[in-house]
Amino acid sequence: MTPTLSKQSVLFRTFSLALTGFSFYSVSSAKDVNSNIPAIANYFGTKGRYEEVNPHLLDDILSVNKSILKPGCTGCTAVHVTAIIRHGTRFPTSKNIRRMQRLYDLVLNEAVATDTWLNDIKTKWHMWYTDDMDGKLVKKGRDDHRHLAVRLATLFPSLISEENLRNGRIRFITSSKHRCVDSVVAFQEGLLNLWKVAEVGLGHKINDELMRFFDQCQRFIEGVENNKTALEQVYLFKDSAEMKRVQMKMADQLQVPYSHITTDLVEAAFFLCSYELAIKSLNSPWCNLFDETDAQVLEYKNDLKQYWKRGYGHDINRKSSCTLFHDLFNRLDRAAHEIRFGHVSEAVTIQVGHAETLLPLLALMGFFRDEMPLTADNLDMQRGRTFCTSRIVPYAANLVFVLYDCSEGLRLQFLLNEKPLNFPNINHSAPLYGTVREAYGELLHGCNFEKECELHIPNHANEL
Ligand SMILES: *[C@@H]1O[C@H](CO)[C@@H](O)[C@H](O)[C@H]1NC(C)=O
Ligand SMILES: *[C@@H]1O[C@H](CO)[C@@H](O)[C@H](O)[C@H]1NC(C)=O
Ligand SMILES: *[C@@H]1O[C@H](CO)[C@@H](O)[C@H](O)[C@H]1NC(C)=O
Repeated sequence: MTPTLSKQSVLFRTFSLALTGFSFYSVSSAKDVNSNIPAIANYFGTKGRYEEVNPHLLDDILSVNKSILKPGCTGCTAVHVTAIIRHGTRFPTSKNIRRMQRLYDLVLNEAVATDTWLNDIKTKWHMWYTDDMDGKLVKKGRDDHRHLAVRLATLFPSLISEENLRNGRIRFITSSKHRCVDSVVAFQEGLLNLWKVAEVGLGHKINDELMRFFDQCQRFIEGVENNKTALEQVYLFKDSAEMKRVQMKMADQLQVPYSHITTDLVEAAFFLCSYELAIKSLNSPWCNLFDETDAQVLEYKNDLKQYWKRGYGHDINRKSSCTLFHDLFNRLDRAAHEIRFGHVSEAVTIQVGHAETLLPLLALMGFFRDEMPLTADNLDMQRGRTFCTSRIVPYAANLVFVLYDCSEGLRLQFLLNEKPLNFPNINHSAPLYGTVREAYGELLHGCNFEKECELHIPNHANEL
């Protein structure tokens, strides 16, 4: 491709974008390699694809960057890996499927199609989501886990190995939800295919205490989940000027009365765009309803919800993950102890859960904490926020803790979505394990799930 050509095509696009607003995709689709990816794909929050966080996987889904491991250390051997992984791509929940159906009906019955894409929705697209799909893992979701398994095995060949699998040194733990169980099975299939071995009697343990702790924390359920006031900022943002603007713009495009486009319907359209990409790798005509500015507003709404329901918004959100936190460090402690005698009994732990499992643990451990809370009125201030769920918890998101035996002692490295991330306030990508334990000393000596989660606290005044 010559520079002249590409310049022309950029000009052409800009020009056509200015003229016709939303014909951008159809104009660019013939030539653009990434035409299957909507321009708003980076704003889907927890409904985003893993590939948007790791775009190099679009070229080679099994590619691995080994240079991320143990930088700046000498004589290191990985001795244990714990991976806490979100389930793969899934269908929408029944609730959202019903919303999509309502939007589709409205577009069919009321919208006036002046644009090609809108006509495409009315004549070519059909509502193929059905109630019974309710949150189930899709084929792409199984692939997410199969491929992740192969990449992790490539990254840690001495730990995620056939021998360790056969000897029961790799443990699998999952939430009881079918999409998680199916993900774990797909992960195992990925390993078996890689090593070309038939079934070796692989099992998994269902453990909701660890992977769905939020269902068992009464103080969280009453104080946040069933408490509308706790999510006040989300409701306020639904009524904000930013959201109103997105609603009105959508109504204008469909040429329906403003009052017919509720925030639920705006979200349904955004979901449709995200699901068609995540499940079918399609740049759906629904995506034309939004530009990047709109998508940023909807992304913020989702981040606000996660922030107040799963993140820093309420202390109990983080604390509800105490059991998982202790389980992780117990595992690391055990490996650290055993390595002194030369043999770690549990080389690898694979744990599959939900975005709602990963976010509280990340918050408990101090990752992605912004100086200012996310509120309904500070979107502009929060454009550079670190608490950005599109980057943190797409489908198949994973937290990987790697314990190394190095010449200077034991070291711990953290990878988020296969990229190194420093522990908060520790300026090293693989600090000494002792340094990490010290940094989390307060949590390691406290963070008692029963105490944090029980509803009616007996009088502790004397203890303080
Ligand atoms: C691999 O990881 C290193 C360290 O994080 C990074 O500098 C480099 O750009 C990565 N390479 C690729 C091809 O992504
Ligand atoms: C509900 O949330 C609000 C705001 O966080 C809080 O003040 C209130 O105590 C909560 N109510 C219950 C029953 O926990
Ligand atoms: C972090 O460590 C790097 C390399 O060791 C050093 O160059 C940098 O100044 C350190 N940053 C802080 C904030 O301490």
